Amino acid sequence: MPESKNLMDNLVSLCKRRGFIFRSSEIYGGLNSCYDYGPLGVELKRNLKDFWWKAMVQTRDDIEGLDASILMHPRVWEASGHVANFTDPMIDCKICKARFRADEIKPEKAGQCPRCGNKDSLTEARNFNLMFKTFMGPVEEQANVVYMRPETAQGIYVNVYNVMQAARQKIPFGIAQIGKAFRNEITPGNFTFRTREFEQMEMQFFVKPGTDVQWFEYWKEQRIQWYDELGIRKSRLHFHEHTPEERAFYAAAAFDIEYEFPFGWKELEGIHNRTNYDLSKHQEFSGKDLSYFDDQTREKFIPYIVETSAGCDRTLLTTLVDAYDEDVVEGEARTVLRLSPVIAPIKAGIFPLVKKGGMPEAAQKIYHDLTKQFHVFYDDGGAIGRRYRRMDEAGTPFGITIDGQTIEDQTVTVRDRDTLAQERVASDKLVAYMQEKMAAYTRKE
Ligand code: GAP
Repeated sequence: MPESKNLMDNLVSLCKRRGFIFRSSEIYGGLNSCYDYGPLGVELKRNLKDFWWKAMVQTRDDIEGLDASILMHPRVWEASGHVANFTDPMIDCKICKARFRADEIKPEKAGQCPRCGNKDSLTEARNFNLMFKTFMGPVEEQANVVYMRPETAQGIYVNVYNVMQAARQKIPFGIAQIGKAFRNEITPGNFTFRTREFEQMEMQFFVKPGTDVQWFEYWKEQRIQWYDELGIRKSRLHFHEHTPEERAFYAAAAFDIEYEFPFGWKELEGIHNRTNYDLSKHQEFSGKDLSYFDDQTREKFIPYIVETSAGCDRTLLTTLVDAYDEDVVEGEARTVLRLSPVIAPIKAGIFPLVKKGGMPEAAQKIYHDLTKQFHVFYDDGGAIGRRYRRMDEAGTPFGITIDGQTIEDQTVTVRDRDTLAQERVASDKLVAYMQEKMAAYTRKE
């Protein structure tokens, strides 16, 4: 395993080399904190989202999906408090023009710019709203301002009764959504950890007041277990409970799930008991009654919300950091991504040992059969060891080699990326073999 300080550098270079993540607009020098997902990255991201969607929507009868628009009525952001409060205090250097979050300036160095070192060069702290603004329609005036949503949650709140009625749900129930969010972060950084455009995977669970504490505990457990099932090492995950200073004033409780990155313990997901704050505010600002009538108990109340809010890009970065490894195989150094097979961008490499003796034809047939089930990759170029290495670096869990014996008895060799064990498997049993191995996968510490 490489030193922590090298790990991020090595990972960033692997991401570019193998097509996981590129800098946005690279030929123009890049755009700060914006990234593009390449062929392997986009597969990994889709698999990750599917894994979340399956756990949070498809396998549950009490959660419905939603895909709300990014642009919403500007009053939404007044009601939510984002227009007034979604700010970070920032300080500018009058000399070099660098901008810092106020908490980045050490008290003992007050007034001194951390970038250019000039003393007495810093402005007073001013509040800076993190929402991106744009204009709706051709006239650029205040009346036409709309915001790029800074969280997906509000699209869920304003649709709660649409979804509830359409899907014939009753409280307790939840709405889940995956989508882009935008924040004009003052100090983005650490590769894709903090960016200005990112995706969230959020679920809002609507409950009766008084049952919120119990549901909050339930969701905390469900969510940490999800990371375990995703194959993230348990020893690198923990909960961080927000102190009263960290917690939003309306939240009754807030915990973060944190991961130990090479740059420290950092938040992956927030689990919040948001009380009835959000729906009360939307009721006040929209003038619409947003209370729920329970026809069993004949009670009327504004639902409480327990929120689970994860960053998709941040979780993807976590899967890569957690999976990155370097070891030595048969005297040769290799880089390997020990990704869970469930999210691995390519599930198997298909390798005819040589380009003759019927092997390419047999390998092509296996390749076409497997593509009906999995994303697989055909590679007949170079020595077999090099082909294995290329797939190890891409996080591909299975290497399937078609050799002379395949032509005689229709079996192939399957090499395991992590244990390097090789097994002989009948080619018509490959799908079942891979499915079984994928289901049984657990990450070693
Ligand atoms: N609706 C609640 C909410 O948005 P948050 O803690 O501000 O809560 C939730 O954000 C998650 O979104 C974070 O835990 C993180 O994973 C992700 N996230 C937030 N800001 C981000 C950024 N600038 N870049 C990447 N991911 C971010």
